Amino acid sequence: MTVIVTGGAGFIGGNFIYYMLKNHPEDRVVCVDCLTYAGNLSTLKEAMEHSNFRFCKINICDREAVYGLFEEEHPDVVINFAAESHVDRSIENPEVFLQTNILGTAVMMDACRKYGIRRYHQVSTDEVYGDLPLDRPDLFFTEETPIHTSSPYSSSKAGADLLVLAYHRTYGLPVTISRCSNNYGPYHFPEKLIPLMIANALADKPLPVYGEGLNVRDWLYVEDHCRAIDLIVRKGRVGEVYNVGGHNEMRNIDIVKLICKEFGKPESLITHVTDRKGHDMRYAINPTKIYNELGWLPETKFADGIKKTIRWYLENREWWENIINGEYQNYYERMYGNR
Ligand code: NAD
Ligand code: TYD
Repeated sequence: MTVIVTGGAGFIGGNFIYYMLKNHPEDRVVCVDCLTYAGNLSTLKEAMEHSNFRFCKINICDREAVYGLFEEEHPDVVINFAAESHVDRSIENPEVFLQTNILGTAVMMDACRKYGIRRYHQVSTDEVYGDLPLDRPDLFFTEETPIHTSSPYSSSKAGADLLVLAYHRTYGLPVTISRCSNNYGPYHFPEKLIPLMIANALADKPLPVYGEGLNVRDWLYVEDHCRAIDLIVRKGRVGEVYNVGGHNEMRNIDIVKLICKEFGKPESLITHVTDRKGHDMRYAINPTKIYNELGWLPETKFADGIKKTIRWYLENREWWENIINGEYQNYYERMYGNR
């Protein structure tokens, strides 16, 4: 079958493309990505050598270009990873989040309606559920937890999710949605917590922890997320939402201390900076549904995943050094300069 993967030059989409080429070599994979600051063609260097892989530089908001591609490729499946994905940038400038995350999703689904599709899958996030209090470790997000967003990013993702479910009900579009917790692993853009701390620790630069660093995230190795999406697309029930997470809750401060330890760097590098506006306290997924229906369980333990990730950043310095030496420097100065 032919699978369109949007956002494949980014972190999770890129990992998903390699997952597909490895596990389903019989499928044709067409990557749609407009290469924003977060998209990186060098991520797809090895994929480019596969005969059943195609890269198309297309913005998912560009209806004409998207329809043209559907006419050429007749995809069986569309998996929409493309998004503006960074909470801090959404606080700086929400507009592009609304454009890509909501309007872009509508364009992709309109194309699916017009040309026909076996499955449209929306890659969403646990952030659509808002946050949980730190003093209630018994609470977890289930698929029934009400949508209750905090940031422009999570609001735009929630808007997209509602639209996806509406297209299912109104037009009968065969959709599924996955809502995953925080991912980590190779090709993670260095503006996000784990790769930022790895890059700064290696350069003996301050490690900027927002507030006290007590916020909790539920970390999942990216390959486990890719496997979950693949299962949902092939075996999940149409019209359903599946939460994806591995019961691996950690406080930010503990992650940063662990990274210091792995590199033998002093904890004195840790610098507490002004907190993020509206900062969500805790995310925690209840993955019972995907386990019961599809047998999915995470395979990579955090202790192993973080070692693999650190090794990848050490062995692929060029990939991330090219990023942090470019336009990213302006962002870093804006975000952390006077914090
Ligand atoms: P990312 O920022 O690393 O990559 C996003 C990719 O989308 C980039 O390649 C970018 O060029 C592309 N893109 C952006 N706007 C586009 C547009 N208008 N048209 C075409 N391409 C466009 O993001 P990521 O971390 O890989 O996240 C992928 C998806 O997974 C997102 O939908 C995100 O909301 C979701 N998600 C991420 C996490 C996480 O921890 N990173 C967790 C749960 C869900
Ligand atoms: P991030 O990787 O941006 O993911 P998200 O906000 O989508 O969960 O941030 C993870 C956590 O780390 C979040 O609580 C904010 C915090 N954080 C810092 O303390 N310092 C930083 O420099 C960054 C980027 C994040």
